[in-house]
Amino acid sequence: MNMINARDLYKDFGKLAVLRGVSLEVGQGEVVAVIGPSGSGKSTLLRCLNRLESIDRGTIEIAGETLAASGSAGQSHYAADADIRRICRKMGMVFQQFNLFPHLTVLENVIEAPLTVKGLKPEQIIPAAKELLCKVGLWDKRDSYPSRLSGGQKQRVAIARALAMQPAIMLFDEPTSALDPELTGEVLRAMRQLAREHMTMVIVTHEMAFAREVAQRVVFMDRGEIIEAGLPEDIFSRPAHPRTQAFLAYQGV
Ligand SMILES: Nc1ncnc2c1ncn2[C@@H]1O[C@H](COP(=O)(O)OP(=O)(O)OP(=O)(O)O)[C@@H](O)[C@H]1O
Ligand SMILES: [Mg+2]
Repeated sequence: MNMINARDLYKDFGKLAVLRGVSLEVGQGEVVAVIGPSGSGKSTLLRCLNRLESIDRGTIEIAGETLAASGSAGQSHYAADADIRRICRKMGMVFQQFNLFPHLTVLENVIEAPLTVKGLKPEQIIPAAKELLCKVGLWDKRDSYPSRLSGGQKQRVAIARALAMQPAIMLFDEPTSALDPELTGEVLRAMRQLAREHMTMVIVTHEMAFAREVAQRVVFMDRGEIIEAGLPEDIFSRPAHPRTQAFLAYQGV
């Protein structure tokens, strides 16, 4: 069973067609990197997968459950709200801008969703939160507020926070592009570890070397379409499509 089955997604913002028939399948434990120029629809695709944006047409299945189905007139219709919430909880998302709660400490950020969404008690969640914060190397920062952390530390807290909900899938939207190069490595290390643990991941990234190393499949998007997808070594060494070639040449690959 695929963890993500997205078929023929269309999405307009007003007159702008942002997704124009995008299909993406992601298997269990697969790591897929999405690359492409600015404005090509990468963030919109991720945001549609977890219902932060709605699609106009197409179908989305997450871990075998239908989030959006295609109606007879072609338009998508979504599952009931309670089902949407349950299905979307299978996905954790990490954004470029961290989005931590500034008024909560590191530990409080990590346990907030399990407390409020799952209704767990602190003593039920703190052992797992400790394990996650140790894993990203930040247990000693548990009582710090986000404003006292570096960008790389904030992003590692954001990853731990997403993992605290025990998602089956992690979606990353350029998790390192707000970071200085020296802080990028520590975030990529945490993601590499997740990949080793066979977390299913979709990673929008400008880190071509990282995509090549960690992804099992690379998807190149341009102007709302998937132009080319394949093994990293094929996409990076032998891109078939002229637009992929031009993009990679511009990236210095
Ligand atoms: N909420 C919105 N309302 C209107 N237009 C939007 C909205 N979100 C995105 N867009 C437009 O949709 C297009 C695709 O945006 P998107 O953010 O998905 O691109 P991207 O591939 O993630 O780019 P980048 O690499 O710069 O992050 C862009 O032209 C953008 O301006
Ligand atoms: Mg984006």
